[in-house]
Amino acid sequence: MVSAPAACLRVPVESTLPSSMPKLYRAVATRATRTNPPANCLVEKAKILMMSTNSLDLSKANVLITGGSEGIGRGLAERFLKAGSTVFITGRNPAKLKRAVSDLPGLRTLVNDISKPEERIRLAHDLQSGLPDLNVVINNAGIQRRISLASDTAPWAERQIEIDTLFAGPVHLNSLLIPLLLKNGAGWIVNVTSAGGFIPQVFAPIYSACKAALHSYTVALRHALQGTAIRVVELIPPAVQTGLAGQGATHGAPLDLFCDDVFARLQGSEEAIGFGPTDTLEFKQLIEAPKPLFLASSARFPVVTYGN
Ligand SMILES: NC(=O)c1ccc[n+]([C@@H]2O[C@H](COP(=O)([O-])OP(=O)(O)OC[C@H]3O[C@@H](n4cnc5c(N)ncnc54)[C@H](OP(=O)(O)O)[C@@H]3O)[C@@H](O)[C@H]2O)c1
Repeated sequence: MVSAPAACLRVPVESTLPSSMPKLYRAVATRATRTNPPANCLVEKAKILMMSTNSLDLSKANVLITGGSEGIGRGLAERFLKAGSTVFITGRNPAKLKRAVSDLPGLRTLVNDISKPEERIRLAHDLQSGLPDLNVVINNAGIQRRISLASDTAPWAERQIEIDTLFAGPVHLNSLLIPLLLKNGAGWIVNVTSAGGFIPQVFAPIYSACKAALHSYTVALRHALQGTAIRVVELIPPAVQTGLAGQGATHGAPLDLFCDDVFARLQGSEEAIGFGPTDTLEFKQLIEAPKPLFLASSARFPVVTYGN
């Protein structure tokens, strides 16, 4: 177990807060952190632990990418494969998976619908036997319903699928796979959110709300895994040229440019990885600003965490 340096208690709280943080928040964060010194220590501990758990040998990594037959998932699958990893991708459509394998020989596939709880259980079961050394899980599968709240009259079952794919899927799958990851030592969980999780997109409001929920859950998951060698990363794409938004809606960053950049950065130590508009100082402040309050709050309300 890594112990925090004694000096960490002497770090002035104010100096750990982003200068852009509004005055009222600064005051609350400073007071909360002062009355809970362990929160400051936790920052130091987390940094030390992160440094010791970042590096994975990608030539030996065993990777699961949900929704890897197209778009970002497929782009990342290609890069992990080239690095020498064993890569399983999933998707609902067997024909798309077949196409991916003929383009990327060596890729392994599983037909799986992440929106269905019974299929998530089956996936975890299949991985336990088919990829027992799993150490990287990328929760990437996604759909996006472009609707307006005022005119969305689709049957509820259809609407529920979006929520289940984007939010219930990753939460359930992670809880099923974390015991296996812990058994295998160091690993990564990468949750793919979206700019829309931070700035709601009115043309995709439920999608955006699900991504906001996935962001919140990712912060809590990182806290739950902080005493382990599992690194939790949030990948925050801006608009990227894929088929996500349907035919014709392919604006945004070129897919290869995006995948090259984020794949390289996955091998660093960042907790949240954006690109272009989601990698600006302003955007990073959206992510950083609540951190002192989160640390103070989580120090005040200790919970059981993994590895304890
Ligand atoms: N492209 C963007 O502009 C953008 C921006 C921000 C965030 N993102 C996020 O990035 C991730 C990947 O999106 P993308 O742009 O690469 O989309 P994409 O090109 O449409 O690919 C989506 C992938 O997910 C699979 N999928 C969809 N529903 C699934 C389900 N229920 N179970 C298993 N697999 C499923 C699809 O295969 P099947 O259809 O065969 O199931 C496909 O392989 C998503 O989480 C998305 O929200 C994308």
